[in-house]
Amino acid sequence: MRIAVTGGAGFIGSNFVRYWMDTNPADEVVVIDALTYAGHLSNLAGYHERPNCQFVQADICDYQTMLKVLAGVNLVVHFAAETHVDRSLGAFELERQFYRSNIEGTASLIRASREAGVGHFHHVSTDEVFGDLAFDDPQKFHETYPYNPSSPYAVSKAASDHVVRAFAHTYNYPITITNCTNNYGPFQTPEKLIPRSIALLLANQKVKLYTDADGIPGRNIRDWLHVQDHCEAIALVIKKGRIGETYGIGGEAELSNFHLVETMLDIMSEFLDRSLTIENSVEFVADRPGHDRRYAMDLSKIKRELGWQPRYSFEQGFLETVQWYTSPEGQAWLASLSDRTSDVRANQEQVVAVRENWQAEHQ
Ligand SMILES: NC(=O)c1ccc[n+]([C@@H]2O[C@H](COP(=O)([O-])OP(=O)(O)OC[C@H]3O[C@@H](n4cnc5c(N)ncnc54)[C@H](O)[C@@H]3O)[C@@H](O)[C@H]2O)c1
Repeated sequence: MRIAVTGGAGFIGSNFVRYWMDTNPADEVVVIDALTYAGHLSNLAGYHERPNCQFVQADICDYQTMLKVLAGVNLVVHFAAETHVDRSLGAFELERQFYRSNIEGTASLIRASREAGVGHFHHVSTDEVFGDLAFDDPQKFHETYPYNPSSPYAVSKAASDHVVRAFAHTYNYPITITNCTNNYGPFQTPEKLIPRSIALLLANQKVKLYTDADGIPGRNIRDWLHVQDHCEAIALVIKKGRIGETYGIGGEAELSNFHLVETMLDIMSEFLDRSLTIENSVEFVADRPGHDRRYAMDLSKIKRELGWQPRYSFEQGFLETVQWYTSPEGQAWLASLSDRTSDVRANQEQVVAVRENWQAEHQ
């Protein structure tokens, strides 16, 4: 089988490429990635050089190139997207990149897939399309939960889901979709919460914890999904899921941000053999604009139909993630990002500027 993975040089995409090549060694894999500030070929070290892996640096919006690259491909797994929520809250030049890559890019890619004769298109999406849940809501998100996105990122992903479903409906095209919760694990760039927190704590610096308008720190709740569990679930949906169906994926690890930080401090204290506490390791800052309260995913469908459930507890997954970031492989990978640090730093500066402006306006 020949599969194409878009966004395969990003965090989850590269974990998926490695997972797929390890578990399906006879397959040929084409990785398509524009290598934006978020994509790094070093995420695929040891894999992209293999004879059965081809790397194509290209933009998914480039329909003609996609047509050529997808010739002879049986399956497309679509991860490529602008993904950094804070960045989507920046200047309109940044916001429109989300609409371009995530909506136009998905529309262009699925059309090229059909035209090139690809037999199955799997679309990777997020639970953020559903908006958020009240803290005390007994319900969780599920596959038929109403869409109510609340950031430009979530809007663009919601629209991309609709693009895929409408295309499948119109052309009777074989698709599957997954919507998952927050991922963490190896190869996640240090701008994201968990790797950033690990880096700060290792450097003896404080992690930041948002305090909401009522003065409650770390109240927001997220569900944490280890990227390895996510990759296994996607592969299972592709192989055994029903065509045309959507499956929710989560880590069954709902934690308030306060509890998340407490857990990270406990594990890091043991790992570093020094006492990290809320008092000595946390700085409280004002919340970001429109921060969603709670995300949680009901896994009944994927459990019932495919027998899947996450294997990682957050404690185990986080410990292994710290071990990876501090391992020779993780350290070499972090060092390899240095050729792209100016892109990453420029992105981070834009994001920080947005947040500081907002905080200045609201204090
Ligand atoms: N990270 C999470 O917690 C999470 C949660 C739910 C869903 N998702 C979804 O999973 C997918 C992957 O997320 P991630 O965290 O790995 O993101 P990431 O930002 O690490 O990687 C995205 C990749 O897509 C590439 N890309 C962006 N625009 C492109 C374009 N126009 N053409 C070609 N390549 C392009 C980037 O270069 C990068 O390699 C996304 O679709 C995201 O919406 C992520």
